[in-house]
Amino acid sequence: MTALAVQPVTTADLDLLVDLYARSFDEPYARPALESLIASPGAWATIAWRGDPAERYGAGFVIARAVAGEGEILSLGVAVAERRRGTGQALLNDAVFRLALSGVDAVFLEVGEDNPGAVALYRGTGFREVGRRRGYYLRKNGHRVSALIMRYPVRKSDYSSK
Ligand SMILES: CC(C)(COP(=O)(O)OP(=O)(O)OC[C@H]1O[C@@H](n2cnc3c(N)ncnc32)[C@H](O)[C@@H]1OP(=O)(O)O)[C@@H](O)C(=O)NCCC(=O)NCCS
Repeated sequence: MTALAVQPVTTADLDLLVDLYARSFDEPYARPALESLIASPGAWATIAWRGDPAERYGAGFVIARAVAGEGEILSLGVAVAERRRGTGQALLNDAVFRLALSGVDAVFLEVGEDNPGAVALYRGTGFREVGRRRGYYLRKNGHRVSALIMRYPVRKSDYSSK
């Protein structure tokens, strides 16, 4: 298994982030929009790097934010060729950890109910469904799909040395 490291996105990584988004979601996210999302209050992004430092490449990313005591995973993606190797799990664990350390009480996310792989990842990590937005996503085939709202309860004692 090659090494995996999750690190905060720097300005030098923005083109890679745009590329990873397109390779994860099969649709583009324009660089200016991505840049302004990450620059919005409380927001940040990480990239999962595979391989040795000299030859590493980006495998996936997270965009998240913490606002008013609540954390939110805005986007999580792993390039198609990199899936089922633990990258999504590592990115999610790292994001929950960073959000917990920033002091949030809970982490929320939205996921299409037609995305069982992602739902399995989130449930397995401890997220639970707390709501549903009916017909929230419009898929390319014209179908409307509901979004599940999932919540991870942060137990402060898990993230404190006291
Ligand atoms: C969802 C996604 C991030 C998972 O990334 P990944 O690197 O493949 O996930 P991991 O290898 O860390 O998987 C961890 C666990 O999640 C679950 N899981 C992940 N993908 C799954 C799939 N396609 N089917 C079923 N379970 C899946 C499994 O329990 C898996 O553990 P296992 O491999 O030991 O069975 C990736 O498939 C992706 O980028 N999809 C497209 C974008 C997307 O849907 N993002 C989430 C939108 S909210």
